[in-house]
Amino acid sequence: MNLTSNPVQEIFGDVKCPGDKSISQRILIIGSLLNCDINVSGFLNAKDPLSTMAALNQIGASINKDGDLVKIKKRSRPFNSPESSIYLGNSGTGIRLMTGLISGLNLKATLIGDESLSQRPMSRVVNPLVKMGKKISTNDGKTPIKIKGGSINDNFEYQMPIASAQVKSSLILASLSSGNSIHIEEPKVTRDHTEKMIEYCGGKIDVQNSSEGKIITLNKSNLAEISSYEVVGDFSSAAFIIVAALISKKSKVLIKNVGLNATRKGLLEVLLKMNANIKIVNRRKTCNETCGDLIVESSALEGIEVSDSIIPNIIDEIPILSVAASFAEGETVIKNASELKVKESDRLKATSDGLEAMKIKHDILDDGLIIYGQNNDVPVSKEIDSFGDHRIAMSFLVAGTRSKEGIIVKNCKNIETSFPDFLNTMNALGMKIHG
Ligand code: S3P
Repeated sequence: MNLTSNPVQEIFGDVKCPGDKSISQRILIIGSLLNCDINVSGFLNAKDPLSTMAALNQIGASINKDGDLVKIKKRSRPFNSPESSIYLGNSGTGIRLMTGLISGLNLKATLIGDESLSQRPMSRVVNPLVKMGKKISTNDGKTPIKIKGGSINDNFEYQMPIASAQVKSSLILASLSSGNSIHIEEPKVTRDHTEKMIEYCGGKIDVQNSSEGKIITLNKSNLAEISSYEVVGDFSSAAFIIVAALISKKSKVLIKNVGLNATRKGLLEVLLKMNANIKIVNRRKTCNETCGDLIVESSALEGIEVSDSIIPNIIDEIPILSVAASFAEGETVIKNASELKVKESDRLKATSDGLEAMKIKHDILDDGLIIYGQNNDVPVSKEIDSFGDHRIAMSFLVAGTRSKEGIIVKNCKNIETSFPDFLNTMNALGMKIHG
């Protein structure tokens, strides 16, 4: 599916931020483990959370969707090994977290995904789970992941070799669901929704912060029942609206109910340093997660050097940050971001290709980008390929606001994995995106 985004001057209005994808997937998993009736509101009704929901139902969970409300029901039977392979579509979070959960539950299962997911590295979760006691095979580190047996050891200690919340969460879920404890050292701090949700449900999780990162200990926990859970808005989705408003000429938007977890809102700090006009109002806590409303206005952005330590907290936002940097005066330097190469696409290359089509001068590094920004509307000579990656597609559609004659972005179907209402939402604010 190709989409065209035409130039506009003004992005204006109020919008409610769509539900957080990471949190939506985690409440399905942790909620199923609690084994009680839970009404989930604010759930992200998108392909990735829905494939995680289907995967959980395949192993015996009882979750259904009733309009916007998701109902997790007390199970009438124990979890079971599925008869057929579990398909997680495009979702890295889905497959890696489900691998941890299924390992801890002592089930046997084969997990697979779509073409993109089949090319992504799975050893990062499988290797530590094997060290924890599981028997798991892969196809040379890729899917299918076959969980064959073994059981999780108690008191496993692990130092994270890469910054990955999916790996950390997978191991925590393996320990939680097997009734064991685990100790994880995380030198580079990543999103902590799993820890916050376990704490919210009464789990015994202890987090020590130090200059060398975080030390997370999950002690044997019996979680308490909850009857409802409200998912806050997804900062990563809000990022597209934020940047659209910042780079267009006469804009003002109010984005309501945006998740502002400290490990997720790194882009806000980066943009504020770039001279962005963003205000946070109505800051509050919902189900142990900070959220608030954002007022964003057109801004004369300036390039900056992005600090290395913030990279894990802006990892999903680097493509849209690159668009913001394209229209910021001066140089923006992004390094230490080689994880971008193993996302839904090689996001370093996909971003660089898109910038090239927009004739934005930049250098592509082995682990990042240097973007030489400028504040003129850009001529776009060719179609931009999103490589089937939702965040690349949405980033360059946002860039269309500042194109001279529009941008055509190819392969946009996977926008439905994280922000199915993107077109309607952006067009309601004044953007001109069409098929
Ligand atoms: C996620 C963690 C990040 C992020 C992904 C969602 C999660 O991946 O890029 O979109 O929900 O835990 P990594 O853990 O691979 O960095």
